[in-house]
This record gives sequence, structure tokens and C-alpha cells, in this order.
Amino acid sequence: MSRFLSEQHKNLAPYVPGEQPQDMQYIKLNTNESPFPPAPAVVKAAAEEAGKCNLYSDPECRIVRERLARRYGVEIENVLLTNGSDEALNFIILAYGDQRHPFAFCDVTYGLYPVLCRLYHIPFTELPLRQDFSVDVEACMWTDAPLILANPNAPTSLALPRDTLEMIAASRPERLLAVDEAYVDFGGESCVPLVKKYDNLLVVQTFSKSRSLAGARLGYVIGSAALIAELDAIRCSLNPYNVNRMSLAAGAAALDENEWYMNNCRVIMENRQWTADRLKQLGFNVLDSRANFLFAGHPALTGEAVYKRLKARGILVRYFSVARTAPYVRITIGTMEQMRALSAAAEEILKEAQA
Ligand SMILES: Cc1ncc(COP(=O)(O)O)c(C=O)c1O
Repeated sequence: MSRFLSEQHKNLAPYVPGEQPQDMQYIKLNTNESPFPPAPAVVKAAAEEAGKCNLYSDPECRIVRERLARRYGVEIENVLLTNGSDEALNFIILAYGDQRHPFAFCDVTYGLYPVLCRLYHIPFTELPLRQDFSVDVEACMWTDAPLILANPNAPTSLALPRDTLEMIAASRPERLLAVDEAYVDFGGESCVPLVKKYDNLLVVQTFSKSRSLAGARLGYVIGSAALIAELDAIRCSLNPYNVNRMSLAAGAAALDENEWYMNNCRVIMENRQWTADRLKQLGFNVLDSRANFLFAGHPALTGEAVYKRLKARGILVRYFSVARTAPYVRITIGTMEQMRALSAAAEEILKEAQA
């Protein structure tokens, strides 16, 4: 640590992303990316835009906001574009948390929420998931704290129905509810239709997963005009050109390619079913996923052991070492070929463990 670092950041514990080996020697099932490339029209649009990079991007991100507004039946004032949905979560925590307003989220959920709170010295409460990893809905209804719920949750893959989220939003109209829908396109129910009814509701989505644009970093928030204006003020105070030209062009084109992406989502859901069935046959406990990943554990091996043994066989998955999740690994759903390789490797490591 240098002698220059501000006192307030001396104990910073940054978020640790999943491994991103650059040599492509692994079957990468560790960071919930899409195994499919973006649609050709999206690649073309981004490439064409690269030639205009001498000019700043549109700070209002109008074209993509307009298209999203049309898609969801809201106004452009209800949509904010961000540099990945991580940035949306950053803005939300920065805008609505302080010493008097600690945030709340589940104890097993996306690891960035507590990291952001710690960065800004915003206190937070963790609401324990039930034994079966389901969300404690009563606890969510009762907390006064601004609440972030990933739905489907990560890494558990479980989803709550929209009605339940509506109950949580309605239970405390004075309390903010942000629903992080990074994985909603793989079988979840979106809360976007509720934003007109609940002015305490923000819905965060991303182009990273179902639209194959993780590397382009494009996310968005939908909510009441008042909330979006506040988040926009934060955005403009930090980085008014927060979304680059290529990503804006890619995002606009991606919204025209819905059929391509819906088809990819369908394939991923089919591959998910095949993989879940296969892992269950091998004795894994597999949670009922509504996401592009599975959360699975085997009584014969810890999550870390599964991770290490699969890695030795060229397959990357992710494990989380805290006590509750230590028996499990999170496995991103890939192509059928990748899933067959995973299944064969899982069978091998179990034979080895049980020998
Ligand atoms: C629950 C959840 N929310 C948000 C994100 C951030 O996604 P991005 O910043 O790529 O939009 C992730 C990333 O994996 C996630 O798991």
C-alpha cells in the first residue's frame, strides 16, 4: 500500500471477478456469459461506429433509450443507460444509501452489493436466505432499508414470481426496491410492467447475458421519472459519457435482433434442462434454475474440489468459499458440446472421488 492512499480506502475489499483466461484453453463456464456471439448485424453496427470514435458518444444515449422505452411501453424519461448493470447498481447504492439509510439484500446474492456499500461506507443488513436458499419474503416485506433483490438470484439461480415482488414493493411504499434482473430472460418474470404502478421500484437489466454483449458493457434501469432523474444526476456527476459509441450502436442493433436472442435463450434453457438432469443422475443436488447457470453440489466433493478437478480437465466453473455456498459450484450453461464435456468430466471426477 502506498503512503498516499486515503484513510477511508485502506481496508477496501474489492469484488473479485471470475477468472478470465485470455488463451481460450478452457471451456469457460464460470462467468455466466453467453456461449453465442452477438448477432452479425450487431457486430457490423459496432464495427461501423468504431470509425467515429474521434467524437464523444451521445451523453443522453437517446437512440437506445428510445428503443427500450418503446419495447417496454414506458417513456424515455423512465430509462437510464449504464456501463453494464454493475454501473446501475453503483448509481443506486450511491444515490439512496447513507448512514441513516442502510441497504438490505440477501446474505447469499451478487457479491458486488456489499462491495459497493463498503466502498461508500454505507451500512447494510443481510437477510438470510432460508435453508433451501429461497428468499425470506417476510423479511423483505418488513425491512425499512432500501432493498436490492437479484431475481433470479445469483448464485442460487432461484427466482421469485412477479406477484411476490409486487407484494414486497407494495408492503412499504416509502422504501426503495431495486430488482436486479440480469438473468430474467432465461425463464424469470420481469417486474418492468410494475414500474408504472410503484414509484418506489427500480428494475435493472443488462445486455450482457441474453444479448451476448458482456464485453460491450451495457445495462439499464427502468423506473419512475423522478428516480431516473436522480440516478442520471449521479451518472452525469461521475461520467456523462458513460456508454461508449460502439456499445450504443451494438445495443441499438441488438434490440432489432430479438428473434436471434430469444432463440439463443431457448437453446440455453434446453441445454440447462439436459445438464440439470445429467448432474442429478450423477448424484448432484441441483437447484431449480431460472438463469443461464446452475447451482449444484455433490455430497462426495466440496465446491472447491469440484472446481479444482474440473479445472484440471480444462473446464472452468465458479465456487464461493463462504460456509453456506461452499458445497456448491455455479456452472454457466454453454453450448450442448460444452455441456457434454462438462457431464463427462463430472462423471470422471466422481469416479475418482469414490474410488
Ligand atoms: C446478479 C447480477 N447482477 C448484475 C451483474 C452485472 O452484469 P453486467 O455489469 O455485465 O451487466 C451480474 C454479473 O454477473 C450479476 O450476476
